[in-house]
Amino acid sequence: MKKPIGIFDSGIGGLTVLKEILNAMPGEDTIYLGDTARVPYGAKSAETVTRYSLENARFLLKFDIKLLVVACNTASAYCLPRLKQELPIPVIGVIEPGARKAVEVTKTKRVGVIGTEGTIRSGAYFDAIKAINPAIAVFIKPCPLFVPLAEEGWTNNQIARLTAQTYLHYIKKQWIDTLILGCTHYPLFKGVISDIMGEDVMLIDSGHETAAEVFKCLMDKNLLETVSSGQNTHRFFVTDSPERFKQVGSKFMTANLDAVELVNVGS
Ligand code: DGL
Repeated sequence: MKKPIGIFDSGIGGLTVLKEILNAMPGEDTIYLGDTARVPYGAKSAETVTRYSLENARFLLKFDIKLLVVACNTASAYCLPRLKQELPIPVIGVIEPGARKAVEVTKTKRVGVIGTEGTIRSGAYFDAIKAINPAIAVFIKPCPLFVPLAEEGWTNNQIARLTAQTYLHYIKKQWIDTLILGCTHYPLFKGVISDIMGEDVMLIDSGHETAAEVFKCLMDKNLLETVSSGQNTHRFFVTDSPERFKQVGSKFMTANLDAVELVNVGS
C-alpha cells in the first residue's frame, strides 16, 4: 500500500519545502499540516514550539505516513532530536541538510545564516556547521520581518529591498561566500538577497537540500515511489482559516490548494 510523506510547518511557509519535495519526487503522495492558528513559531519559546510540534507530528502519524518532514526551521532547530526519539518513523528536519550543503560549497570557510529569532537563538545551524567543520566561521542574523513581508507578497519591492539591506548590512561586512536561507519564507527573497550580497555569494535553500535528503532516505529504505501515475494525492490541513491558506499559499507554490481542511491538533 502506498504511504504518504507527512510534512508540517508553523503555517504557510512550509509550502516552499513541499514544492521542492514534489519536484524531486513527483511519484509521492503527501499530507501537509500548516499550524496556522498558532503561527508564528519564530518568536516563541523552545518549550512551546516543542509542544506544538509534537501535537502536529501525532496528528500526521494518524495517516500512516512513512516519513515526517519538519519543514519549519524553528521547529527543526528546537526539537528535531525529541521528534526523532518519539516517532516510530524516519524524521527529517531542514537544518542538517542546509548546514551540510553550506560546508560542502564554502571555499572561504565563512558562512552566513539568516532565520527567525528562535532559529538563530537556538544556535542549531551554528552547531550543525561547527560539528562538521569547526574551522568554518559562522555569522548569524535574525530577519523576522521577512515572514510577514512574504505573506503580504512584498518580496521584490522597495520595502523588501530596504528591509533586506538593513538586515544584511552586518552579514555583508563579513566577507562570507555562502549564505543559508534558514527560514521557510526566505527563498521568496532570493532575488533581492542575491542583489545585495552579490553574485559571488552562494545562497543555500534549506528546503531544496532537505528534499534531496528525503529522496536519499526513501531510496535507502526502499520506500521511494519511482513511478508517477499522475494521480497522486496531496492533502492539506490547517488549524485556522483554510481561505487565507489558499489565498496566501498561492504566493508560495503553484499547486492545487482547493481542498484545504480545517483541523484541531491541540489537546
Ligand atoms: N516556518 C517558520 C520557520 O521556518 C517561519 C514562520 C514562523 O515564524 O512560524 O522558521
